[in-house]
Amino acid sequence: MVPPLPPASAEPIASRIAVLPPAVADQIAAGEVVERPASVVKELIENALDAGAVSIDILAEDGGRQRIRVSDDGGGMSRDDALLALERHATSKIRSAADLVGVPTFGFRGEALPAICSVSHFELETAPADGEGTRVIAAGGSVRGVDQVARRRGTTVSVSRLFFNAPARQKFLRSARSEWRSVLEVVSTMALTRCDVRFALTHDTREVLSLAPAHALRERVAALWTADYAARFVGVDDVSGAIHVSGLAERPADVGMASRRVHLTVNGRAIRDAGMVRAAEAAYRSTLPSGLRPSLFLDLVVPDDSVDVNVHPAKAEVRFRDRWVVERAVEASVRRALGTMESAASLGPSAQWTQQTNPLATFAAFGLTNDAPRTLTQDETRTLTQDEPRTDVPYLVQLRSTYLMFESETGVVLIDQHSAHERVLYEKFMAALEGGSMASQRLLFPLTVQLAPADAEALDAHRDLLESLGYELGEFGGQTVIVHSVPAPHPRFDAERCLRDTLSALTGDRSASGAARHQHLAATVACKAAIKAGDALAAEEMRALFIALRDCQLPAHDVHGRQTIVQLSWDELERRFGRR
Ligand SMILES: Nc1ncnc2c1ncn2[C@@H]1O[C@H](COP(=O)(O)OP(=O)(O)OP(=O)(O)O)[C@@H](O)[C@H]1O
Ligand SMILES: [Mg+2]
Repeated sequence: MVPPLPPASAEPIASRIAVLPPAVADQIAAGEVVERPASVVKELIENALDAGAVSIDILAEDGGRQRIRVSDDGGGMSRDDALLALERHATSKIRSAADLVGVPTFGFRGEALPAICSVSHFELETAPADGEGTRVIAAGGSVRGVDQVARRRGTTVSVSRLFFNAPARQKFLRSARSEWRSVLEVVSTMALTRCDVRFALTHDTREVLSLAPAHALRERVAALWTADYAARFVGVDDVSGAIHVSGLAERPADVGMASRRVHLTVNGRAIRDAGMVRAAEAAYRSTLPSGLRPSLFLDLVVPDDSVDVNVHPAKAEVRFRDRWVVERAVEASVRRALGTMESAASLGPSAQWTQQTNPLATFAAFGLTNDAPRTLTQDETRTLTQDEPRTDVPYLVQLRSTYLMFESETGVVLIDQHSAHERVLYEKFMAALEGGSMASQRLLFPLTVQLAPADAEALDAHRDLLESLGYELGEFGGQTVIVHSVPAPHPRFDAERCLRDTLSALTGDRSASGAARHQHLAATVACKAAIKAGDALAAEEMRALFIALRDCQLPAHDVHGRQTIVQLSWDELERRFGRR
């Protein structure tokens, strides 16, 4: 039933809707673009970069609350353009909506300068060529004066007393310290986005950053923090389909030792993207203790029409047409980087290994393959048992029945035999759980194992999965199980002990679902089944372990976040012995 309309009033009601005066509308729009001093700094640096600047000086006073000044050596503006630039929707960067696809500049809305100008005391000095400058002075959005000045080509924008006419917004400004931290963050972000540009940042009277143009991201990271910090990262550089992912991923052994930093760019724009971070973190799976999250600096280049940059008022986010494809590309490229020897731990400062100077490169592409882990083929096993040593396997020495050592082109390499074998088994078990098959060994005399009630319950819950790992378990009455076959990792494998240890580790683990459950099981069985420290190995066993490790996706990391390989470079040795 539709309720009857109220009777029409005899008196006309005054209209409740009115168009806002332009000054108010501008202030409201400014709220979206200019949230705090750091957002002013961001917009001004973007404008400088869009104008082709190669050198940018930034000054902030009182955390940017009193004054912000950004000077550049870019293309500058004529007098007419300088005045137009302060009008809303005035931009030189696009002409039509179609230009938005793949827009190569940071700016495209023609909003930033008018927004900043409407809530500050504003001064713009600009010259398209040395000597021919214009100065525009404005406050609260209205121009107070225009004169000619002599200055060098480029532009300087000064913004003082931000929000002087918007007390509600001013109240939201935080302490000078806190605003300063955000300014520093924004400048660092822009500096990482454009390594080729010189940046200098001064706070009050102190020069805080002075960054010379850099050739590579690693160099810029070193200049922003320290060379030691930059050396903690593995280089990422990978193309999947139309997507190019490059940058730096923290070496697993170093994660958690300093505060975490994440920097992402898409087609040259710094953005936030939780999904992409999750994808990169997924690549670290099994290499980090739970709860630790890696630092990442990743640059993505994707086709222009696969991303929409105009979805966020401060352009801090983008929308992908096919997010899944992008995330998988990120995950694959980070994983590939972690699979290289560059990601292994090192004694002393780590060398910057490239694929060419990879210490194991002489022994075939150690860890550079992206193929699924595999077991040895018959041929390989046969080769292994022949007398002549394989040329692609180095001469291996066992130390303390615990470590394998060998010499590579770049230094001395040590492998922890237990961790390494654990990594090998983990990848084999994961492949088996995800649908592959697992070689198993039938026991001549089946084992009868008496279980505690909790272990019997764990067995019940994980029976299928244990069977796909190579266990063949017979019917059992009460709490007794008959074991017919076991995974057969090595001759010293103690089948009963492994089963018991595995079951007690699995006790109570019913909640985890799907992949997490597989990982937990594979890691548990791998840990229990792997050769131990103290097991003396025959030469063929060492070689077989070396080859199996080389074929792993992540050979340099065990499954608990520790390293399997440690290297000592010749450089470091020479330094220690005073040879250089
Ligand atoms: N540092 C500068 N050097 C040269 N020209 C500039 C500079 N800053 C601004 N301009 C000019 O002023 C115009 C307006 O700048 P504004 O930042 O308001 O808009 P935009 O950069 O075009 O778009 P957006 O609002 O997305 O930043 C720019 O399009 C550009 O032509
Ligand atoms: Mg702009």
